[in-house]
Amino acid sequence: MSEKSTIAVVGSGYVGLVAAVCFAEIGHNVICVDNDESKVSQLSDGEVPIFEEYLPELLARHRNKSIAFTTDLHAATQKSQIIIVAVGTPQSQTGSADLSYVDAVASQIARSITEYKLIVEKSTVPVYTNEWISRVIERNGVSRELFDVASNPEFLREGTAVADFLHADRIVIGVDNERAGNVLRAIYEPLTSGSYYQSADAVPGSRSTIDPPPLLQTSTKAAELIKHASNAFLAMKISFINVVSTLCEAAGADVEEVSKGIGTDGRIGPKFLKAGIGYGGSCFPKDVAAFRYVAEQLGVDFGLLREVEKINSEQKRRFFQKVRSALWTFRGKKLGVLGLAFKGGTDDIRESPAIDLIAQFLKEGCIISAYDPAAMERTKQVLPPSGTLSYAKDPYEAARDADALLVLTEWQEFAELDLDRLHYTLRYPIVIDGRNLFDREMMVRRGFTYLSIGRPGATQVKNAVLSNRLP
Ligand code: UGA
Repeated sequence: MSEKSTIAVVGSGYVGLVAAVCFAEIGHNVICVDNDESKVSQLSDGEVPIFEEYLPELLARHRNKSIAFTTDLHAATQKSQIIIVAVGTPQSQTGSADLSYVDAVASQIARSITEYKLIVEKSTVPVYTNEWISRVIERNGVSRELFDVASNPEFLREGTAVADFLHADRIVIGVDNERAGNVLRAIYEPLTSGSYYQSADAVPGSRSTIDPPPLLQTSTKAAELIKHASNAFLAMKISFINVVSTLCEAAGADVEEVSKGIGTDGRIGPKFLKAGIGYGGSCFPKDVAAFRYVAEQLGVDFGLLREVEKINSEQKRRFFQKVRSALWTFRGKKLGVLGLAFKGGTDDIRESPAIDLIAQFLKEGCIISAYDPAAMERTKQVLPPSGTLSYAKDPYEAARDADALLVLTEWQEFAELDLDRLHYTLRYPIVIDGRNLFDREMMVRRGFTYLSIGRPGATQVKNAVLSNRLP
């Protein structure tokens, strides 16, 4: 059995909160620190502010036992040997990551160090942040002997974050000496030794006692680069398939077939080759921009990333045009919208392509009825209900009497809708699917005018729609 550590996690956003709860789950004592008092009291009462599978159960399992929430960073630092920094690194105006929260937290931690501490950056940060944190701590009068700074990036996806943490593809620890390496390896030991998976109530996933996650130990700089490079690479895969989808439309091929054909090559892999309306979320858009900025600062021209970003915004514009091609004019047209979150399985709408598109359709004079299984409350805060925008209680209500139904988020439950009911609910049976959720032939067989991304028939269907609507 591994040794129990006391770990302070600073920042209880998606990454911090999931990491904190998961560290408690694998046997450690965790103090979760946030400067937002209402969030701290909500979490202390066992309320989870985000939509994340397994998180409520695990919080209930460990609350008042091995996880506590506080605003007191000083006390948390003093009680813990390991301090994990998971505060936000928003995008600044230049595209670079704004590190002011990391800087502020580093100074505060420094003022509380009286014995050895390992400070671990988990926030997504540019290469060299590690050195800056060390400098800030030293500037506050702490001797080099009393601390190390390590990088331990997180690769969890929203919606599956808990399982991603506990069943990681890999655990990366970036350290510059063995003292830090020993401490970090020890806290992950329940996962890397496989002992966690022996427990009957372990969260299920792909890892097991005989196939535990590998741990890669690198330099701090390499770990920082691994995080940015991983996200940039995945975003690049999405932009790549999105351009291929445009090619498919022009050539009359099916991008789903092409994607499968590419993805079965073991060197490429099938994941992140799903064409759609572009990537969104709190990570890819911000991290691609920050990585491009880092490269620029280091004198490296990473023009490829500029293309990735350009293709991503172009993908939204193309979808907008696709809807126009189906409806001809926008003013007064009623659109049913399925999906607001930036992807399925989450209530997060940050940088969601769906929100962008809805704002554009509203600007053009459309009347929208929207539905999302999890993200409606959050969306209401940025797009409040109005004379032209309402929120439906289910997908069929969103579709009622609409001139067309748009699918903007890849929620599995949309793929399982009763198509006959949908058909008679819509004013015109037009479905414009930005996530390729439906089988194209089936939609056509059921009598829909069906437009999707990178699949044949779009042009023929477009013409059919136009001729249907012409006087
Ligand atoms: C992403 C990474 O996948 C995680 O590994 C990383 O830890 C995380 O960012 C982070 O840096 O914190 P996440 O933002 O939760 O995770 O979402 P993804 O599942 O990666 O999806 C991102 C966007 O790409 C979504 O809008 C999704 O709809 C889109 N996407 C994804 C596609 O359009 N096609 C695909 O094939 C895959």
